[in-house]
Amino acid sequence: MFVLTQQNSIANHWLADLRNIQTQKNRATFRQNMCRIGEILAYEISKTFSYHKKEVQTPLATAQVQISDEKIVLATILRAGLPFYQGFLNVFENAESAFVGAYRGEHQKDESFEIQLHYSVAPDLNDKILILTDPMLATGKSLNIALKKLLKNGKPKHIHIASIIGSKAGVAYLQENISDNFSLWLGDLDNELNPKSYIVPGLGDAGDLAFGVKL
Ligand code: URA
Repeated sequence: MFVLTQQNSIANHWLADLRNIQTQKNRATFRQNMCRIGEILAYEISKTFSYHKKEVQTPLATAQVQISDEKIVLATILRAGLPFYQGFLNVFENAESAFVGAYRGEHQKDESFEIQLHYSVAPDLNDKILILTDPMLATGKSLNIALKKLLKNGKPKHIHIASIIGSKAGVAYLQENISDNFSLWLGDLDNELNPKSYIVPGLGDAGDLAFGVKL
């Protein structure tokens, strides 16, 4: 598991602003920081790809470069995933995209809930690199359900799951419930979930902060 904050960098500032109740008031800044974390995690994931030699003609001579021909599919869960996904798309600009619409159904008296899966659209995934992005890995249920739905479209060469903040319980849930081999990429890892399954300290409701409070 890769956790961005295990090494200090400017990304700590973007994560701090994402969490900060004061800076959260600026929705555009919130979305921009989600996008930036997406760009950085995309760059880190690109280090795992296979590369091959290519010659490029410069104005002066021929340069030997290493490039990757991996076919990438970027998937995200609507709506909170969109700014984070955009960061990945900025880096992998020729990637195909997949979208899943999922949300938490009504909370029961014991605060349990079912994930409601609706819209889903994805290209053929066979032999491609699937990068599934969801900013908040809380219980792990939405990511697991979204992945199972996406995998009906083929068997990827490799699966990457990326979140801005993960919970320890969510990480354990994914490791127990996803039988395919996958790599996990996080901005930061938090210890707890509250009774409503929000990450603590977390940042709150990522979708509401990025797009406005839903009715
Ligand atoms: N979704 C969010 O937006 N925040 C959480 O803490 C958990 C799930």
